[in-house]
Amino acid sequence: MGDNLLITNLFSIKDKTALITGGATGIGKMIAKAFVKNGVKVYIASRNKKNLEETAEELTKMGPGVCYGIEANLNSKESCEKLAADFKKLGNEKLDILVNNAGVVGYDAAITDFPEEAWDEIYNLHVKCVFYLTIACLPLLERASDKQIDPSRVIITGSILGIGNGELKFLQSRGGCGLPYSSSKHAVHSVAKNLAVHLSSRGVNVNVLAPGVVPVKDVFFKHMDSILTDIPQGR
Ligand SMILES: NC(=O)c1ccc[n+]([C@@H]2O[C@H](COP(=O)([O-])OP(=O)(O)OC[C@H]3O[C@@H](n4cnc5c(N)ncnc54)[C@H](OP(=O)(O)O)[C@@H]3O)[C@@H](O)[C@H]2O)c1
Repeated sequence: MGDNLLITNLFSIKDKTALITGGATGIGKMIAKAFVKNGVKVYIASRNKKNLEETAEELTKMGPGVCYGIEANLNSKESCEKLAADFKKLGNEKLDILVNNAGVVGYDAAITDFPEEAWDEIYNLHVKCVFYLTIACLPLLERASDKQIDPSRVIITGSILGIGNGELKFLQSRGGCGLPYSSSKHAVHSVAKNLAVHLSSRGVNVNVLAPGVVPVKDVFFKHMDSILTDIPQGR
């Protein structure tokens, strides 16, 4: 068997460059950590400078990859273009893995009382910015057709709340209204499928993840019993 068929060669991400939005905390940080552990140069982007600095330092110390923070408030097409430009200004001519992960977690209100700003913030970040950041990064992600054996990757953090009806049980258990959140996740699963179709001929492979509950904040533990009631228990 030739060396190029070794699993370590087929699936290695060593020396790749990745940009992860919301990478300083929660699921994004878990992804950043796994990438750094596997030798990737990782850029994490979000608003809180302290979180960015602390995570970048912690992961770089761990190695063998490295981690840098870029401040970004993703809420518009312009903010996405700025993040892509800032990433390029740091000396990056190409991007191998873009992870659109940033999200607004924990908004809760009664159905009659959901603030309009919450709809705007959630839809701008979860839907519009996933699209515009991917498009802004496209010149860095595109691969010549003869190189498609190793395409660049766009990974989008959707949600189990964006597929099927799992959201209803979860939302009932919380008592509040998560409609902007869950409907935005349905929308981003659609954005992902559209991007996948349109970008495949440009050597860009697009996937969307649908995580279930990942208890990154205390609020998740409050509802854990109720969420678990429908899950069969092992003996
Ligand atoms: N935890 C779960 O159970 C679960 C399940 C399914 C899907 N998800 C999805 O997973 C993703 C990550 O969430 P998480 O659970 O890991 O929670 P998290 O730790 O709160 O992560 C959200 C990240 O997004 C960043 N962010 C928020 N608004 C931003 C903005 N305007 N511009 C740039 N960055 C922004 C936050 O950083 P700053 O505040 O510093 O900007 C934070 O790092 C989200 O898309 C979420 O919807 C989570």
